[in-house]
Amino acid sequence: MILLPELHQLEPEKKRKIASLLIGWFREHKRDLPWRGAAPYAVWVSEIMLQQTQVATVIPYFNRFLTRFPKVEALAAAQIDEVLHFWAGLGYYARARNLHRAAQIVVESHSGCIPKEPAELLSLPGIGRYTAGAILSIAYDLPQPILDGNVIRVLSRLFGVKGDPTSSENQKILWGLASELVPAESPGDFNQGLMELGAILCEPAEPKCERCPLLADCFAGNSLEPNALPETPPGRKTVKITQTSGILLNDRGEALLVQRPLHGLWGGLWELPSEAAVRALKEFADQNVVACGSVGTVAHSVTHHRITLHGVLLKPQFDSRPISLSFHTAYAWIQPVELNRFTLSAPQIVLTNHLIEHLATSDSAQTSILF
Ligand code: ADE
Repeated sequence: MILLPELHQLEPEKKRKIASLLIGWFREHKRDLPWRGAAPYAVWVSEIMLQQTQVATVIPYFNRFLTRFPKVEALAAAQIDEVLHFWAGLGYYARARNLHRAAQIVVESHSGCIPKEPAELLSLPGIGRYTAGAILSIAYDLPQPILDGNVIRVLSRLFGVKGDPTSSENQKILWGLASELVPAESPGDFNQGLMELGAILCEPAEPKCERCPLLADCFAGNSLEPNALPETPPGRKTVKITQTSGILLNDRGEALLVQRPLHGLWGGLWELPSEAAVRALKEFADQNVVACGSVGTVAHSVTHHRITLHGVLLKPQFDSRPISLSFHTAYAWIQPVELNRFTLSAPQIVLTNHLIEHLATSDSAQTSILF
């Protein structure tokens, strides 16, 4: 147990009151979500999907995923390509790769049961302190704490935690508060109550304090500016990245699609090859490549990266030659209208749609030898 500074030492009576009010409010006001009351495996899938994605976006993905992979055994037995296909559009694909690998470990080493032991759960790929706490409390009703963005906001306001909430000192304080508060009885409803309060009442800009069950005890709710907490962490600099995809079209009008290796950003996903891959094509297959114009530009943000992706239409000279790629793991020549059957990243889906539109409206005249 982390020792809290004096300010955050909690009276047992106050803890009981907060828990009881929050659990009562949650049971009356909780949204009807498909993972409520579900089996531990489904709770785990929901928590992984919800890590960087909004509830409304997650719901249809969760339902499709659970229909295709209803049990941990089904997920463990699936090919990673198919798992990624069911994840396509949710982003942060390392989550899907870790979930798949962790499902295999659960089947191989835990007889298909999601571990109840915090240390065992934490040793699985993709499960950190927050996710372990969420699974243990929601699925197994064990009194383990959780702390995510919503909970940080609720606890910072309730107890007046000042300063950067992401600093190690404040993280210790906030995890300490979450641990102190979580009750032995109904810890799952308590933790979900914290998340739900953060999501539907204790909102970032306009908290609905007048409807909050914890208003009487809330530091921020009784101040002049409830939304002044939590303080905004010092900004992380955004990084601008410019990329070019080479859209290689052969005589049959098929585009070259390549698959990224399993690790790293967009690992295992398919894409129109980067300019570097087109250069490699020239090297390995001794090809001349002819530029036929641009199909447009896509802007995409992921974490602090601001990506600008240009699409250049290209024509290879000898498309029947086999291609030997150095970075990518597989390739295929695909009719543009069929490209979206493959698992593509969000900016590649947009670029592919630009390509289809471009081909429908122009006759792509050749202009110059590129490489
Ligand atoms: N965000 C993270 N986990 C959640 C859950 N179980 N329900 C609603 N929102 C969440």
